Amino acid sequence: MVNEEWAPPGIDTTKPSVARVYDFMVGGKDNYAIDRMVAQRALEIMPDAQEAGRACRAFLRRVVHYLAADVGIRQFLDLGSGLPTDTNVHQVAQSVDPATRVIYVDNDPMVLVHGRALLASNDTTAVVQADIREPQQILDHDVVRDQLDFTEPIGLLMLSILHHLNDDEDPGAVAATLRDALPSGSHLAIIHFWDPAEEQPEVAAKVVDAERVFNETLGTGRWRRRDEVQAYFGDFELVEPGLVPLAEWRPNDKDKAEQTDSYYTMIGGVARKP
Ligand SMILES: C[S@@+](CC[C@H](N)C(=O)[O-])C[C@H]1O[C@@H](n2cnc3c(N)ncnc32)[C@H](O)[C@@H]1O
Repeated sequence: MVNEEWAPPGIDTTKPSVARVYDFMVGGKDNYAIDRMVAQRALEIMPDAQEAGRACRAFLRRVVHYLAADVGIRQFLDLGSGLPTDTNVHQVAQSVDPATRVIYVDNDPMVLVHGRALLASNDTTAVVQADIREPQQILDHDVVRDQLDFTEPIGLLMLSILHHLNDDEDPGAVAATLRDALPSGSHLAIIHFWDPAEEQPEVAAKVVDAERVFNETLGTGRWRRRDEVQAYFGDFELVEPGLVPLAEWRPNDKDKAEQTDSYYTMIGGVARKP
């Protein structure tokens, strides 16, 4: 746990942040009392929510390894990258090819502070502070333009970020702007809070409560239905096994999950630009 007396300059510890609440959920130490309070409220509704956090990180590792090793992607743009944790995108991708370029983008200032410290000696990886609600600014950013070659396939990661855009912020338009900028052969990976609706009515009732708590405390958090999430892929072609509960996406033996409630609250997939 961080010392409550100390925070990096510019970090407001009186307001919870999505990045720090998530950090707590995945077992990190870069969170404050206010973040843990929000996390505890979510855990009251969904006691196995930390399992969902672990499933997200395991999905991320499998997806990035698949894109780097099987598809041959050598450049990644990770939007809403979060605070550094045990195994990060660049570590997975660069274990396949150390020359792989990775750009992390997040709007939380703490991600920038910790990301820069982590990457001090890595010249193929960078962290940029920007807001996904302004996708064109990300695409035009000097670092993004310098580091990524938009004539070669890119791995665009939007893992647990689009559900932090409210409906009036038009996540569909944000996703479309980003998809349109990518060359053919690029891949888009998404994790999204999932409202399993009639597929799992008891879980669907709980996500209504979870959405209320997130919006009261963090001001964001939308659990969307499968078809709403699928729309973010546009005309990209989903690779097998499609848009599925995270643990079902090309699982390793060690990532096998029990099908508890949280299993049905997150959905993910990967799709290729034709
Ligand atoms: C739940 S974390 C996900 C971290 C990582 N992608 C993962 O899947 O493990 C969501 C991240 O998105 C960031 N975020 C939320 N809204 C954002 C926005 N409008 N622009 C950029 N980043 C945002 C948060 O700061 C947080 O770090």
